[in-house]
Amino acid sequence: MKGFSGLPPVDRRLFIPETVWVLRDGRLRPLSREAEPEEWERLVGADEPIITKVKDGAWPMSSSTGPSMMAQMIAALRLGADMRVLEIGTGTGYNAACLAELGAEVVTVEVDPEVAAHAEEALRGAGCSDVVVIAGDGEDGAPAYAPFDRVVATAAAHTVPYAWIEQTKPGGLIVVPWAATFHPDGPLAVLTVGTDGTAEGRFTEPSWFMPLHGQRLPQAVLDETRERWKAAGEPQASRYGITVTPDGQDVWLDEPGAVIGWPPGF
Ligand SMILES: C[S@@+](CC[C@H](N)C(=O)[O-])C[C@H]1O[C@@H](n2cnc3c(N)ncnc32)[C@H](O)[C@@H]1O
Repeated sequence: MKGFSGLPPVDRRLFIPETVWVLRDGRLRPLSREAEPEEWERLVGADEPIITKVKDGAWPMSSSTGPSMMAQMIAALRLGADMRVLEIGTGTGYNAACLAELGAEVVTVEVDPEVAAHAEEALRGAGCSDVVVIAGDGEDGAPAYAPFDRVVATAAAHTVPYAWIEQTKPGGLIVVPWAATFHPDGPLAVLTVGTDGTAEGRFTEPSWFMPLHGQRLPQAVLDETRERWKAAGEPQASRYGITVTPDGQDVWLDEPGAVIGWPPGF
């Protein structure tokens, strides 16, 4: 399999389960490697996200992120030598393996124990035995392994869990896909942790991720985002920023302090 631009040479096939889920005739249906080896190979070699677990035959619960999205997030992390990285949302383990291949010391947290077990096995099989896989709620971070130089979430947030800031070194970065709460693209947030227990940053490129389990939003909130954003004059995502303190978070437009009031309560 040829590699993906912007990613290290890690074979994605080692991480993708034998059965994945694809949209066919308007429904998610299983695609098994045994039954359709060529289609499985094509999908795994394509620059596309792959759904790897569904609930009730309809709801995606875990996936392998599209490789070019992974590459953008890894670039946003600006990794230096020997950094300790906390990943939230292990999924298949492929992103953790890429981070490890780039020289990071990786601790990754997955809320679904079955998914975590599959990832751990795949990581061992791929020779990434130093990656620490924790089955648990990533909103708590991984205090036993803190402090981290970088935190990267591969599930969308509408609220930055303060534990991530507490567990990141001053000057460290937190990269997190944002739920579409103020901009319909659900842009990536890139925050820098300060020396005073705060973190601040801006939103960048579009990112589409399933939400963190504890951060699902009612569809009505997401539906209203586009209307609110249009009414605000459709500002580019990069004009928005976020400040997080121990007391909460504010999303602002153009400069810290120019806080937007949508959605209420976030
Ligand atoms: C898009 S997938 C992750 C892709 C993964 N990084 C990869 O390389 O395959 C999102 C994952 O986040 C997990 N997740 C959702 N909420 C979580 C939480 N609160 N803590 C940890 N993992 C969570 C989901 O179970 C799912 O496996």
